[in-house]
Amino acid sequence: MTPAATEFITPLTFQALSGHPVHSHLLDSGEEQAMGHISLARWADVLVIAPATANTIAKMSHGWADDLVSALYLAAECPVFIAPAMNQAMWRKSATQTNIKQCQQQGVMLIGPEQGSQACGEIGFGRMSEPETICERLLELEPLPCLQGKKIMITAGPTREPLDPVRYISNRSSGKMGYALARAATDAGAQVLLVSGPTALTPPENSELIAVETAAQMYDAVMARTAMCDVFIGAAAVADYRPAQNVPQKIKKQDALISISLEKTRDILAEVAQLQSARPFTVGFAAETHALETYAQDKLRRKNLDMIAANWVGREQGGFESESNALTVFWHNGCVQLAMTDKAHLARQLISLIAEKLNEKNTV
Ligand code: C5P
Repeated sequence: MTPAATEFITPLTFQALSGHPVHSHLLDSGEEQAMGHISLARWADVLVIAPATANTIAKMSHGWADDLVSALYLAAECPVFIAPAMNQAMWRKSATQTNIKQCQQQGVMLIGPEQGSQACGEIGFGRMSEPETICERLLELEPLPCLQGKKIMITAGPTREPLDPVRYISNRSSGKMGYALARAATDAGAQVLLVSGPTALTPPENSELIAVETAAQMYDAVMARTAMCDVFIGAAAVADYRPAQNVPQKIKKQDALISISLEKTRDILAEVAQLQSARPFTVGFAAETHALETYAQDKLRRKNLDMIAANWVGREQGGFESESNALTVFWHNGCVQLAMTDKAHLARQLISLIAEKLNEKNTV
């Protein structure tokens, strides 16, 4: 309990109702000896902060640790869920939304909030999800498989293809899915190489980041390292074409119409999948605006992949810049739908599926 929580309900009430000890002090000599915040954080399989106030979320997003709850979050290495609860205006405020996004990028999974009437008499988003809903979400979180000793290379983000020294062609990829996969894979114990185009994201602590800009740089970074990898996941939105000429001086404004010739880039995913020796288990993504299944299945065969994760783009929910997504995953003799959820949760499900299929392939 935070100090604010104890203003509403006493720790004694919680203790009597739950039949479990209640911890509420960050620096309590008795508690520190018995079970300080570090040992509490180590002890937990999952950390759930419910209700998560705007204040606690703000502290989490910035790494503050001035009470037991925020210190626990900072010390925790297990999956973390928050169930926000606050006034609708506080929830909608850009500061809160920025903090929520920041927490999600740190791997925190969001439950709710729900819409409805609030304690303050207003109506809107900000009600904490019902405890039953929170428990259901926790039960969905199947434990990650052990990928200890496995090396996984993941490409993420967009690429930038220069037109001249100041301009480039790029796309709307945020890198969130690739980074969430990197986090899920490191959580599962894998050694992760993250080959990333320019993003605003922080890579997971235990991963190795190789920062690139262009498709050609991404190609070189990946191909130099495939031999040391068990799994390759191509989550980057690699440019399919790049300007045929990268002129050394800024292109001047002239005619009403100008043409830029584009040439095809090399398909990193296809080349990894076609490797004759030391070929990693290869997983691709298909982002489509139409005929999702047909294109995905075609890509699976044509590029010789082991698995492909297909998602809609250009729709209201899900896709490139969104915090959530839904995937249909195909392999050669099966497929599964992963329902719309936050990218952290989706990444854990996909990593579990990859581990399962990798295992099946290695035992055949
Ligand atoms: O063929 P398409 O570009 O739709 O395929 C998407 C998949 O291929 C993604 O997994 C993406 O990371 C990968 N890709 C690649 N190199 C390219 C183009 C796409 O690795 N040049």
